[in-house]
Amino acid sequence: MEFKEVIKARYSCKKYGDRKVEPDKLAAILEAGRLAPTAKNLQEQHVYVLQSAEALAKFDAVTPCRYGAPTVLLVAFDKYNVFTYPGGKRNSGIEDATIVATHMILAAADEGVDSCWINNLDPDQLAADLGLPENEEILMAMDLGYAAEGTGPLPNHSSRKPLSETVSTI
Ligand SMILES: Cc1cc2nc3c(=O)[nH]c(=O)nc-3n(C[C@H](O)[C@H](O)[C@H](O)COP(=O)(O)O)c2cc1C
Repeated sequence: MEFKEVIKARYSCKKYGDRKVEPDKLAAILEAGRLAPTAKNLQEQHVYVLQSAEALAKFDAVTPCRYGAPTVLLVAFDKYNVFTYPGGKRNSGIEDATIVATHMILAAADEGVDSCWINNLDPDQLAADLGLPENEEILMAMDLGYAAEGTGPLPNHSSRKPLSETVSTI
């Protein structure tokens, strides 16, 4: 898909049907995350693919927001392998993982796979339930699948502020 079309095609899917995400499409999505830039090229992300009934049940226990998606990606990062910016107030962990997630959510749209970014979850509980290593912090989860028949973007999808409200040239 042409890049502008990918940007337009992505929306937050809130109801999935039974169709599974094909392995080649999942691989393309994960590859887009692999190619994402990170500060100092640290690549501190760790992406978990949740597909087993057991893993998905653990996900459902910490969020109401799976919406029937057959696959969920968890994007975590190694909190001890981040670049601390000059001044010491911020480090790269959250933003590097966010860029990885953004690459993957757009790649999903490019593959025709529907998605939703999920932050409404208990990350510490999920990390414990899945047995993630202590050094990893969960940034977000990404539902992946195909929209249930008859569903599509919510009305607020097309509601965006004009550039005049969000951009200033100085
Ligand atoms: C950082 C972030 C966190 C979000 N968390 C959730 C969530 O926990 N549950 C949910 O249903 N949607 C979540 N969303 C989806 C937003 O509700 C959605 O992106 C927004 O309403 C705009 O709709 P659109 O993505 O269709 O354009 C999240 C989106 C972002 C960017």
